[in-house]
Amino acid sequence: MSFLSNIFNKNKGTDIDMSVPYTNPIKIEFHSHLIHGVDDGSQAIEHTLDILKVYADMGYEKVITTPHIMSDYYKNGPENILPKVEEIRKGLDERNIQIKFEAAAEYMVDEGLEHKINNNEPLLTFGGDKKYILIELPFMTEPRNFKKVTFDLFMAGYKPVLAHPERYLYYNQNKEKDFEEMVDQGILMQANILSMVGYYSKQVEKAVEYLIDNKMINFIGSDVHHIKHAEIIRRDAFKTKLYRKACNLDLLNNTL
Ligand SMILES: [Fe+2]
Repeated sequence: MSFLSNIFNKNKGTDIDMSVPYTNPIKIEFHSHLIHGVDDGSQAIEHTLDILKVYADMGYEKVITTPHIMSDYYKNGPENILPKVEEIRKGLDERNIQIKFEAAAEYMVDEGLEHKINNNEPLLTFGGDKKYILIELPFMTEPRNFKKVTFDLFMAGYKPVLAHPERYLYYNQNKEKDFEEMVDQGILMQANILSMVGYYSKQVEKAVEYLIDNKMINFIGSDVHHIKHAEIIRRDAFKTKLYRKACNLDLLNNTL
């Protein structure tokens, strides 16, 4: 590393030495769309298996996939998700891909989720007894029932994990207050690797940098929908300073 880039790194307040070879410290990945044909992710089991091979090559030992559940578009549930998990596990065995495979879900905060909580319907969670539940918000505006739903989830014994907070740009104006409120409320935060490598936009990259610098991230996830996403992560993540910085946080991924 050159003298100038050393100074630059110091000014950025980071102690990541990019010249050191890197092994992925994250062994468990838990945000992706790999149940074929149930949402906007993988549409065929062959694609799912190809993507899982990329995860295995990157050093992941377990993938917990999280298909969308939305009352408008994706009316999924344990009944159509879990049988496909079995099918995919068989495919992994046949192709001798060494990776554990499980499923939870990514729930949109909508009327449907509120209804399920109020009716004590079983929700797809991860982390065993910890009952983590991955939730997402619309990209245009915060849903009016966000606070109520998270409160109800806590009351019902779940631990909400907010998917990619950096991608909701309506929090950008007032992120110190908005994100701090969520963290204070006990909501766990999951940042996308694709945000760190600049895949979505500069604004999203800045937002995830803010969350990482302020140690507000509890999990990192890939949010892979297709093989291109997985290939970008394989190509760029380990050489991206922001990703390495995120890996230095007290992450919960490997406890899943
Ligand atoms: Fe997702």
